[in-house]
Amino acid sequence: MGKGGGINLVEKNHMRLEILSKSTNESFARVVVAAFASQLDPTIEELSDIKTAVSEAVTNAIIHGYEYNEGIVIIESTIEGNRIEIVVEDKGKGIDDIKKSYGTFLHL
Ligand SMILES: Nc1ncnc2c1ncn2[C@@H]1O[C@H](COP(=O)(O)OP(=O)(O)O)[C@@H](O)[C@H]1O
Ligand SMILES: [Mg+2]
Repeated sequence: MGKGGGINLVEKNHMRLEILSKSTNESFARVVVAAFASQLDPTIEELSDIKTAVSEAVTNAIIHGYEYNEGIVIIESTIEGNRIEIVVEDKGKGIDDIKKSYGTFLHL
């Protein structure tokens, strides 16, 4: 399909990005994932949702995971067919009660 016509089908593709837990790197990560996702020819709204999800998850890693201390945040994304998976990982304090964090998982 063409521009704005919805989702393209893409052969399996993968990216991995490692950043220092600085808020200046949050916008960098968001732009990188958006650029990677663009091969699916997403709508503006879909792209905006992806950027929001990455932004929130990376911010969580910086603020809650590392509590503003220095650490590494890893952002991985896999595309297969019309599906994109984005995983944001930190080695910070972790989540005690996962039930309290359900809002962290954003189903788009
Ligand atoms: N990367 C993380 N490491 C540790 N705790 C986290 C992380 N992400 C989320 N949390 C916990 O889950 C809660 C809910 O996250 P969220 O829905 O983003 O709300 P908020 O960031 O506004 O508190 C956070 O308050 C925090 O306690
Ligand atoms: Mg948050």
